Amino acid sequence: MVLVNKENLPAGELPPSLRQHLFDVLKLCDVSLRRTAESWGPDRPAPIWTEGGAWYRQPEMWTDWTPGFYAGQMWLLHKLLKDDFWEGKAREHSLSLFPRRLDRDVHDLGFIFLSSYGRWIEQLDGDDPARAELVETIVTAATVQSERWNGATDEGFIYSFNGPQSLFIDIMMNVRLLFWAAANGADPRVGERAIEHSRTSARYLVRRVGEGLGDEDGSVAHEAIFNTEAGRGEFRCLSTQQGYSPFTCWARGLAWALYGYAYAYGATGDKAFLETAHLCAGYYLLNTPGDCVPYWDYGAPGIPDEPRDSSAAAIAGCGMLLLAELDPGAATAGDYLRTALTVGATLTSDEYLGPKHEGEEGLLVGGVYHRPRGWGVGGAVMWGDYFFLELIERLLALDEPSLAPLGPGERPVPLEPGSD
Ligand code: GLY
Repeated sequence: MVLVNKENLPAGELPPSLRQHLFDVLKLCDVSLRRTAESWGPDRPAPIWTEGGAWYRQPEMWTDWTPGFYAGQMWLLHKLLKDDFWEGKAREHSLSLFPRRLDRDVHDLGFIFLSSYGRWIEQLDGDDPARAELVETIVTAATVQSERWNGATDEGFIYSFNGPQSLFIDIMMNVRLLFWAAANGADPRVGERAIEHSRTSARYLVRRVGEGLGDEDGSVAHEAIFNTEAGRGEFRCLSTQQGYSPFTCWARGLAWALYGYAYAYGATGDKAFLETAHLCAGYYLLNTPGDCVPYWDYGAPGIPDEPRDSSAAAIAGCGMLLLAELDPGAATAGDYLRTALTVGATLTSDEYLGPKHEGEEGLLVGGVYHRPRGWGVGGAVMWGDYFFLELIERLLALDEPSLAPLGPGERPVPLEPGSD
């Protein structure tokens, strides 16, 4: 079903046919997630991807970064469908994550807590007495996350679960938690580290022509490796875990960067972060097929016979809408809106919509978790379902701004007079 003609759409308006379609999709998602919630309760760790249509969780985890997205889907359905059934479920699933605020083994506390506790706080009444405790949980998680710090040089960064030598592009989404906490009473150092991490990642993971890390503006590397010996903290090389190679652009990494830098700009007003977000968005616009769903890695050798990653498209669509909102005067803002609308139309078509596939338990098929290891290729992935619902939320917010997500990176920081 083609609902959107990318070329002809007026920027910033949601066609009525698409709005109705998005609500129809939400109702299908509601039925599907209710079924999943019956078998995957809060007493059980959340699944990660679907195999043959059925939700599955690895017995031996590589890294446990996804459970917040399960609670987050429930919060989003509560918000968009105004159904109290989901509020109760979302609370239970969020509360089951409370012990993770002290988890020092992962770099993913932003993924876990912004999609669960962050969504919960967003839906509270202003004077709700629960707020202080929920904020405190996020501030604690952000502080713990900020202590995962490689400060061997003046280009510090939050290091990945692989160890102090390793910087991942995914962490740009997790520093949103630090920006959030910094705006809500955390120690100022938490916010300072978020800024320094963002600068280091832009320098080593986002390629710019002429800077030696690749020859395409806005292409993103998954991982950078640094020396860790005292006095020798310098950058050594690029690497990857889930991409095709250190020299190519892993599609989900690009999407994390696009969204993460847009948010970092919204939280700080730093124009360097805005420029980085535009670079990443520009790469996406130039190199992604016309339906706006990327292959899992832009350099995968078998394109066009390689899997697409629908989760990357959902994340990028959210990032494009955020960037267009934060920088509406940009020459490319209309392209971002049209791209997000096309992503929305593609992902809600029968090809990608999970409930349209016999026996599928996920909401969005066509995701990829870890292609080199063959994990979660072609079915639903937990974060794909979450960002799919967030994309619907952001698209609906084009007409109904009160639906837009909240957070310090979601609105432009008012600049001091004369600072622009
Ligand atoms: N760990 C983040 C990702 O797989 O995108």
